[in-house]
Amino acid sequence: MAKPRVFSGVQPTGNLHLGNYLGAIRNWVGLQADYECIYCVVDMHAITIWQDPADLARATREVTASLIAAGIDPTHSVLFNQSKVAAHAETAWIFNCVARMGWLNRMTQFKEKAGKDRENASVGLFAYPNLMAADILAYQATHVPVGEDQKQHLELARDIAQKFNFDYGVEHFPAPEPLILGEATRVMSLRDGTKKMSKSDASDQSRINLTDSADDIELKIRRAKTDPAALPETVEELETRPEARNLYTIHAALGDESVADVVAAFAGKQFSDFKKAMTERAVSRLGPLTAEMRRLVADPGYIDQVLRAGAERANAIAEPILAETKRIVGFI
Ligand code: TYM
Repeated sequence: MAKPRVFSGVQPTGNLHLGNYLGAIRNWVGLQADYECIYCVVDMHAITIWQDPADLARATREVTASLIAAGIDPTHSVLFNQSKVAAHAETAWIFNCVARMGWLNRMTQFKEKAGKDRENASVGLFAYPNLMAADILAYQATHVPVGEDQKQHLELARDIAQKFNFDYGVEHFPAPEPLILGEATRVMSLRDGTKKMSKSDASDQSRINLTDSADDIELKIRRAKTDPAALPETVEELETRPEARNLYTIHAALGDESVADVVAAFAGKQFSDFKKAMTERAVSRLGPLTAEMRRLVADPGYIDQVLRAGAERANAIAEPILAETKRIVGFI
């Protein structure tokens, strides 16, 4: 039997951080054994917010290198950048005509990213979720590993698939399911446990980047915000302590343990003991990944060749699906 098809994407807007890694990339790696996996560096999504062209090209190669360093095998999984496969843009246009303004108006990510100046946001930023639905459905993918923050976009992709099928009286697109896996589905800022760890946070101290040195990691964890209470004795205590909960969640995820295991291991100890253990774990887990990423980035020819070969394979999957989509719509 054919393996179910997974699709997921990541934006090349700067470096990957621990949230991307624990919430998504690590799960992408694990899924390779049991699924047919298509992983995409979504450069077309990136330009919904202004990107300097040289930075975008560099980030596309760096993110690709980080994915390979993290364990995505490009000879097995399909790894490519979005702009190389025209089916994304073509399907997205059709979805622009399927999705309703009201659906997009409800997207919380647009509200967050556009902020108060909605009138000045790009049209692309507003239509962003339609392109995301196109990414997935251009391959008729059924499973989408993402962090918690992408759940609403996935619901929209399901709505688009269903409305397309209903309007045209077909069973063409599957309703894709989110795979939100592991302990750390929503990693928070190291400076504020109520805010998501994000590439766009102005403070670099708020996140651990996959390019950070051991010294950077040590400093960021040492400075990470905590509260004055003693370390928790129970998991329930963490509910009202966002910073402690975040650090415990990260530590658990990095060590493939549960938060309950971490609570049990550190009850009665000091925050400084915990932070020391967390630093050791983060450095030993991320250090090899960072070193491998740097080695790969030094060979842009190899990265470009991976992306080219991946795009060819992606195209071969997407082309017949797009042809059928166009036939259904009535394009001759
Ligand atoms: P992006 O580039 O913001 O993030 C890539 C992946 O990392 C996850 N993530 C997090 N997980 C846990 N904690 C965090 N603090 C955190 N920050 C980010 C995201 O959930 C995501 O899985 N729109 C997507 C990219 C995309 C996509 C797609 C994803 C485009 N097309 C099709 C799936 C399918 C995005 O901006 O991810």
